[in-house]
Amino acid sequence: MRLTRRMQTILAETDRPDKLKAAVVQAVDLLARGETVALPTETVYGLAADAMNPEAVAKIFAAKERPSFDPLIIHLPHRDRLADVAIVPPEIAKAVAQITEHFWPGPLTLVLPKHPDVPDMVTAGLPTVAVRISANPIFRRVVTSLARPLAAPSANRFGRISPTSAAAVMKELEGRIPLILDGGACHTGLESTIIRILPRDPKPLLRVLRAGPVTKDDLQPFGKVEFANQLPAAGADHPEVPGQLASHYAPRTPLRLLEKPEDFTPVEGRRYALLSYRCDPDDGYLFLTDWVQSLTLSPGNGKLPEAAVRFFHCLRQLDECGADEIIAEPVPERGVGVAIMERLRRAAAK
Ligand code: TXA
Ligand code: MG
Repeated sequence: MRLTRRMQTILAETDRPDKLKAAVVQAVDLLARGETVALPTETVYGLAADAMNPEAVAKIFAAKERPSFDPLIIHLPHRDRLADVAIVPPEIAKAVAQITEHFWPGPLTLVLPKHPDVPDMVTAGLPTVAVRISANPIFRRVVTSLARPLAAPSANRFGRISPTSAAAVMKELEGRIPLILDGGACHTGLESTIIRILPRDPKPLLRVLRAGPVTKDDLQPFGKVEFANQLPAAGADHPEVPGQLASHYAPRTPLRLLEKPEDFTPVEGRRYALLSYRCDPDDGYLFLTDWVQSLTLSPGNGKLPEAAVRFFHCLRQLDECGADEIIAEPVPERGVGVAIMERLRRAAAK
């Protein structure tokens, strides 16, 4: 897990056809040689490596300083390659077909029984594997050219804020990885929704292990939706949601989530930054202190998808503004707001 040497990290632009072509060739070449490459996805930037090559996968864990108990998500080049990495139980085969047909490529990850060919390191020794197909065109170009599944966790150091731009990846992993493909800002801005599908009559049970851009409403036509973290631990051998520690997505600056914004009382001399949802002028507490910096996720009436896109970017900026504490407002806990609140609670956890 120790990093033995620093390397030069190249940031490859993709905003012209010739640059795009060269960047994809370079990425595919490195990946084929068992190296890591940071790639844009529609959710957050991922740090990719050949999922079937344990030495390549080990480089992801080293660069991220990720503990070996935290399993990775595999990204397929195509839907018909699912059988290479997972064994779909017959009882849920129909649901898996319907769900993947509808949501892939896109920000939905399925946890399924693992194929024996998938290295144990990828799944942290679990009998299951997490799989999705990214909708980002640059990611898709790389993975289909390589024609092998890519393991790719978010391209941040373990426990830190997920990167939604190439510049953010550079801040996290410069000197630790050879190449970052710059695909601009991420489209949805929060990591994929992760689900398990359990056979039930008449509809399958969809257990949400991590809330994300695919919401409860989106999933409901395909089964009965249940959030795993809202239920008491079932006393299973393996935690159902491995790697998701209470403290995650953590800024270096302490973050306080105001469940009731009117409760905020500034302490004299303390320097605060504000992460506001709408910057509603009726919220009197906004005027109680001179914020070192304040950022608003979705000014005006508040739109949750816009807040999701901007969330990690704003959090990262506030973390760098020199405040003693970041004060975060809650967002409405519906739609993708469920996923934002889950990230905020983890960011606030010590
Ligand atoms: O949108 C995303 O999912 C991004 C982009 C890059 O694809 N990836 C991402 O990966 O968020 P990461 O490593 O930050 O999160 C992976 C999480 C693990 O921490 C764990 O909670 C869950 O996926 N996971 C992976 N394998 C699992 C398994 N077999 N069972 C349950 N959860 C699993
Ligand atoms: Mg992550």
